[in-house]
Amino acid sequence: MLSADFTTSGDLVAVQQQPTGAPDLDELRRRAAAAPQREGGLVICENLVRIYQTEGVEVQALQGLDLAVAEGEMVAVIGASGSGKSTLLGILSGQDVPTAGSAEVAGHDLLTMKRRDRLSYRRSTVGFVWQQTSRNLLPYLSAAENVMLPMTYTGLKRSQRRARAEELLGLLSVGHCRDRTPDTLSGGEQQRVAVAVANANEPRVLFADEPTGELDTATSDDVFAALRRANEELGVTVIVVTHDALVSEQVQRTVRIRNGRTSTEVLRRVATGEDGAEVLTAEEYAVLDGSGRLQLPSEFTERLHLRKRVRLALESDHIGVWPDDAARRAKSDAEEAEKAKTTQDAASGGPNAEAAR
Ligand SMILES: Nc1ncnc2c1ncn2[C@@H]1O[C@H](COP(=O)(O)OP(=O)(O)OP(=O)(O)O)[C@@H](O)[C@H]1O
Ligand SMILES: [Mg+2]
Repeated sequence: MLSADFTTSGDLVAVQQQPTGAPDLDELRRRAAAAPQREGGLVICENLVRIYQTEGVEVQALQGLDLAVAEGEMVAVIGASGSGKSTLLGILSGQDVPTAGSAEVAGHDLLTMKRRDRLSYRRSTVGFVWQQTSRNLLPYLSAAENVMLPMTYTGLKRSQRRARAEELLGLLSVGHCRDRTPDTLSGGEQQRVAVAVANANEPRVLFADEPTGELDTATSDDVFAALRRANEELGVTVIVVTHDALVSEQVQRTVRIRNGRTSTEVLRRVATGEDGAEVLTAEEYAVLDGSGRLQLPSEFTERLHLRKRVRLALESDHIGVWPDDAARRAKSDAEEAEKAKTTQDAASGGPNAEAAR
């Protein structure tokens, strides 16, 4: 059996035996050739770190996050407030710079990107939709003019820009809004126009940070349908942060961020059952990073009192994770205490009296 240690955030790290002596050059070459190629993807984050320093206080918003999104995917990102979702989107959309690690979008290295490249990256490689409807659109321009605005530097003629704006608005079912200013549109219409604005320059990736956060359920569905339409019809890769469980269930893949790291992923696919009927299946996976780290769900570790280290057993088709002696003792102590409490309750007619009988 191999042993494994927990880090302070509950990650499991396999402790591997170090080979004796330093490897020679041939050995290093051999290892490099044998190493798995970095998984391809339009968006690739590896060990991404973002630390904010404010008034001497350090906040680790991203703590070694890994993420790979393939071209054409639509991925929902979920997680508790403060888990780092907006920080991630800020970095990927070129508004913020990571502290360490690597982040690549459509071949652009976001750590080393120069200021001027960053501007053109934000204009043409990515699009962004904010939660606040007022932040996405200029109030004194009509919907069509808002969509035309990002195309100013593309070299397209005004008539071409107008035609593309109208085409996008039509595709997202807000063609009827084209000559109206945002204050005359509903919240859902404003967000659908915002999706059109974000797609104006044919971006490779569209980011949306809780685009339905200020809307009711029915209106949210329309905005989400617009994002799906952009994904399916325009081929743009979509990464959407949402708190809405119903929304996240409509995508093939949902990534959960915990403490600045991707912790679990839910993959949904349509499978054909034995009776020939199509059923939608959803499976939850823990994320395994490039160094073999894995975050165990707290409901698992708490139930078995797993704390600092566990034992690992390699079976033919899975890996077993076992409590160490300390965890076994803690579990049996807790069970003894629970039993004693129930017996005491039974004697005194307390709340657990029924269970004890
Ligand atoms: N500019 C900043 N300066 C200092 N700390 C920041 C800054 N931006 C974010 N943080 C901190 O980084 C952590 C992650 O914040 P982030 O906004 O990414 O979370 P979130 O998952 O988007 O949360 P929410 O669901 O509430 O929007 C939080 O602890 C937050 O307080
Ligand atoms: Mg946020």
